[in-house]
Amino acid sequence: MNSSTPLGVCLVGSGFLARTRARCYRALPGGGGRLVAVASRDEAKARAFAAEEGVPEVAADLDALLGREDVQLVDLCVPNHLHRPFAERAAAAGKAVACTKPLTAYVGQDLDEGATDADVSSVDRRRMAAVAIADARAMVEACEGAGVPLLYGENWVHAPAVRRAAALLEASGGRILDLRGWECHSGSHSLYSKLWRYTGGGSLIRLAAHPIGAMLHLKAAEGVARDGAPIVPVAVVADAADVTAGVEPGGPGVATGWVDVESWGSVSIAFSDGTRGLAMGSDTMVGGMQSRLVVLTDQTHLECNLSPHDSLRGYGAAQGAFGESYVMEKASHDAGWHSFIPDEDASSGHLDMCADFVAAAAGERPGRSTGALGYEVTRVVMAAYVSAAEGRRITLDEVTP
Ligand SMILES: NC(=O)c1ccc[n+]([C@@H]2O[C@H](COP(=O)([O-])OP(=O)(O)OC[C@H]3O[C@@H](n4cnc5c(N)ncnc54)[C@H](OP(=O)(O)O)[C@@H]3O)[C@@H](O)[C@H]2O)c1
Repeated sequence: MNSSTPLGVCLVGSGFLARTRARCYRALPGGGGRLVAVASRDEAKARAFAAEEGVPEVAADLDALLGREDVQLVDLCVPNHLHRPFAERAAAAGKAVACTKPLTAYVGQDLDEGATDADVSSVDRRRMAAVAIADARAMVEACEGAGVPLLYGENWVHAPAVRRAAALLEASGGRILDLRGWECHSGSHSLYSKLWRYTGGGSLIRLAAHPIGAMLHLKAAEGVARDGAPIVPVAVVADAADVTAGVEPGGPGVATGWVDVESWGSVSIAFSDGTRGLAMGSDTMVGGMQSRLVVLTDQTHLECNLSPHDSLRGYGAAQGAFGESYVMEKASHDAGWHSFIPDEDASSGHLDMCADFVAAAAGERPGRSTGALGYEVTRVVMAAYVSAAEGRRITLDEVTP
């Protein structure tokens, strides 16, 4: 690639996340990332996506695009059961890989083809952990072996509020004693999210993975800054349940119909310096997505509000007062008071994350959030599922093959 040519990006998937990514790549200054192609399972959907998002090429299969020299970065926006195989194919073709969270999950990849949904979700949680963690390691090793970066798409790490908090923490030199973080909303739109065999769990892996990623990132940085070595997660205590199981389906509130995954999950993480992080994810919050991280040190107190934040509040006298205007992620109405987040792609970290993907794929600098973080998040999440099933504290070492 010539330094004046924008880096070529291939998106895989044409659903919710792919839309966010397309907006962000387009918004990068100087055409930092050029959307070259989109691959999605259903070519008609891929064509519609490409037309709306201004992507020149489409394919039903990623392999059809991997031979192209103008693709340098493959950005995986597909359900979790596809992350490892697609990452390995892209890496083998010499492409930099960006993989959304979670890096991997247990999705029945060690079962026979005829395994039912129930066969997948009833597998012993220790076996699930061993398979998913081994997959995460395999992804990291495949990219290392191919000499391409594996970028872990944890947007919280790139969010301006979290980055500023990280800089303030470094300046304070304080010890992070207590972290609390949560991502909650009224439930995913994606049909894949209802079934263990596609997502590898519910709100713990889909939502709590975000605060877990940010916590691990901040604790690692604290350790490196003070002692030259990261502070790492060592054990968890967790709980998980489908708390919406008794809710009448089809109502205007929270999503229902979770087949075999939890809609509420929490995990307490013990770090190697004895401090704690408490992360939760839940699909029980109407009124828009809430993404928060509180960081308490011996001397300081920081609160990151990724969403909602109140730089623009608006009141509608009735539904439709603002026409068809978008309010914020997962807010479906505009009547009453609302936070019309003016910069959602920026404040959520997605925009800076795409800039970071492009810079890392172009070899300008290492990525801020890489496969190493994705691997550690996988270990925490999978240990959390073991803990929730067995009702006791689980060390990460005992579930890591
Ligand atoms: N903040 C974040 O970081 C964030 C937010 C949301 C989601 N995610 C992650 O993004 C991933 C996708 O979630 P989503 O919400 O975007 O789901 P989604 O809206 O259901 O989109 C998934 C897309 O993948 C496509 N797909 C499925 N199988 C495929 C295959 N074999 N080859 C190519 N494309 C295939 C689907 O096509 P069809 O519709 O034709 O099946 C669809 O376009 C998940 O890993 C999720 O955890 C991350």
